[in-house]
Amino acid sequence: MRKASLTTAWILSFGVAAYAIVMYGFGPGAARLHPEMRAAFESHALGIQTHIFASALALLLGPFQFWARLRAERPTLHRWLGRVYLGVGVAVGGAAGLYMSYYAFGGVVAKLGFAGLAVGWLYTGVRAYAAARGRDFAAHRRWMIRNFALTFAAVTLRLYLPPVFIFGLPFATAYAAIAWLCWVPNLVVAEWLVKRP
Ligand code: HEM
Repeated sequence: MRKASLTTAWILSFGVAAYAIVMYGFGPGAARLHPEMRAAFESHALGIQTHIFASALALLLGPFQFWARLRAERPTLHRWLGRVYLGVGVAVGGAAGLYMSYYAFGGVVAKLGFAGLAVGWLYTGVRAYAAARGRDFAAHRRWMIRNFALTFAAVTLRLYLPPVFIFGLPFATAYAAIAWLCWVPNLVVAEWLVKRP
């Protein structure tokens, strides 16, 4: 069961990271999005590109960090992947995400939802790094679980979108709700994971 959920999380993380890299690196990018979103992305191209590529790196590297065998057999690799994950993925991707949250589609509720996600992502990253530097590995593990639960918001956000189209829900309202739904339940699950015996 545990292996099945981990494998699913891996596949979804790599799938969304690949989607982002292909779409924005080689594909149509924002051209297929809602016109208001597209306009915001076009007028803040550096912000959104920085956000997408740095965050996609976090989504690609994160799953490896939870692989117990890699940690046990290649601790130096774990440390270096962790530095890139936190230093580039979370720090750069999160700062650019925070900047883009000001221009997010879906009104003030969506802007606050994405800003909350960005602040939580940066904060849990700082706590995870400080715990590792302080050699408190139990705390480091807890903060990394919370942090990756927030990275995984990129996946959950895209899982909530198809029902919006299938059931014909009003997009702006649904998107504002998703800006919160994509990460708050993830944090609840993370908390359950870190607290369980
Ligand atoms: C966890 C913290 C994150 C925050 C705060 C955040 C924030 C945002 C914001 C504000 C937007 C613009 C949305 C709009 O204008 O309505 C956006 C778009 C986007 N983000 Fe993130 N994001 C995060 C994580 C990620 C991750 C891990 C990825 C990895 C692939 C990612 C990939 C994208 C992509 C591809 C878009 C463009 C929209 C699309 O094509 O679906 N984000 N993000």
